[in-house]
Amino acid sequence: MTQNTYLDSFRKTFEISTEKMLEIAYGFRQAMEAGLQGQESPLKMLPSFIERPSGNEEGVFYTVDMGGTNVRSTKFKLSNRGFERLGEVKSRLKDPDGNYDYTNENTSAEMLFDFFAKNTEKLIQQGEQQASLGEGPKLGHTFSFPSRQVGINEAYLIEWTKEIKVAGVVGNNPNKLLKEALQRHNIDIEPVAILNDTVGTLLVAQYTHENADIGVIMGTGYNSCYLEGKHPLTGKEMIVNMEAGNFNIKLPLTKYDIEIDKRSVIPGAQLLEKMVSGYYIGEIATLIIEDFYANKAIFDDTDSMNKFRSKKIDSLDVENYILYPERTTHVLGCSLDDAMKLKDISKSIVLRTARLVVATLFGTLLHIEDNEIKNEHVIAVDGTIFEKMPNVPELMQQAMDELTRSPNKIVFKLVKDGSGLGAAIAAAVAEAKSY
Ligand code: GLC
Repeated sequence: MTQNTYLDSFRKTFEISTEKMLEIAYGFRQAMEAGLQGQESPLKMLPSFIERPSGNEEGVFYTVDMGGTNVRSTKFKLSNRGFERLGEVKSRLKDPDGNYDYTNENTSAEMLFDFFAKNTEKLIQQGEQQASLGEGPKLGHTFSFPSRQVGINEAYLIEWTKEIKVAGVVGNNPNKLLKEALQRHNIDIEPVAILNDTVGTLLVAQYTHENADIGVIMGTGYNSCYLEGKHPLTGKEMIVNMEAGNFNIKLPLTKYDIEIDKRSVIPGAQLLEKMVSGYYIGEIATLIIEDFYANKAIFDDTDSMNKFRSKKIDSLDVENYILYPERTTHVLGCSLDDAMKLKDISKSIVLRTARLVVATLFGTLLHIEDNEIKNEHVIAVDGTIFEKMPNVPELMQQAMDELTRSPNKIVFKLVKDGSGLGAAIAAAVAEAKSY
């Protein structure tokens, strides 16, 4: 095979046709409905016990946001459908220089939640110059992992995703663990709500867009939630966290996806997430380049390949390959032709991501509208893949229009910081309910 035919045949394996998108969409809808009824399904369909916010939420709230790579403590003031960020402290769970790692199996639940409490402590210290802590402040906690929710303030971690392995958290309520950690640090803040990041994203969007009924995270992980009109548990509206990253029906898995799954700490799980999310995209690109190299389809000299291998490729590199092939030639010491191949491969990965994600979102709309999509919808999206990867919003819009055949009936809106601000809104909703 010549170098270019290798590239062509690779491109084909990454293509997702309209028919394939439809097939995935129907499978997704079926899985949603099975999961909602409590039948066996790759979609966990987890209730959030949160409905549409009223918009009258008010007050000052703390938040803790744990999504996988960072923990963030923030203080927000809510009023008149608006907000003010009064302070924020962000810490990495894993030190890039290797001095500590709060994501591995040697970390206990106490260690992890003490780390969150210390982060909140720093935020309080920062605020002391400005204002006192106030009367018994409340906290919303965005905990972005599959959790069986039994109330707005009570959830149990089902399993870790995004390659986190901390011991002693699965089966426990993260808000109880957080409360205990805050108490150990003599911090008088009470967690009152726990939610998924997709739910936070949708709550924020609902402040400004009446038609927003789907929330999506395209970041380190991948997931979506939607507003169920009549939830089987309550007969009322409720946001449902689908844990869509675990979807696995009719996915066009390539040999690279199968390899990534094998190497993962959770083989067999989160198959869609492993195809489309920031945590795995760099690894997909690495496997493809290794395959091209083994087949003499890229890099004539070993030097460039060694340079490529000497660093762990992440989604930012994939983004750079697309945007700056000239820079790639300098970084890897390769020809422009090779850099263009890296660009091409990266674009195929990104295009596949956009089309797979849209297929599942179209499936969600088919469920909401019961087959014929008559209404306009706003889909709220947060995460670096949507925000930073070249052309992703446009590619998603194109794919959606291809499926609805009605341009811009469904629109995507970037929602920044849904997981932070959304947690403050959820805390306010929980407070309003308790009176
Ligand atoms: C993973 C988690 C999910 C979260 C998503 C995005 O898929 O399981 O709960 O929403 O990552 O952060």
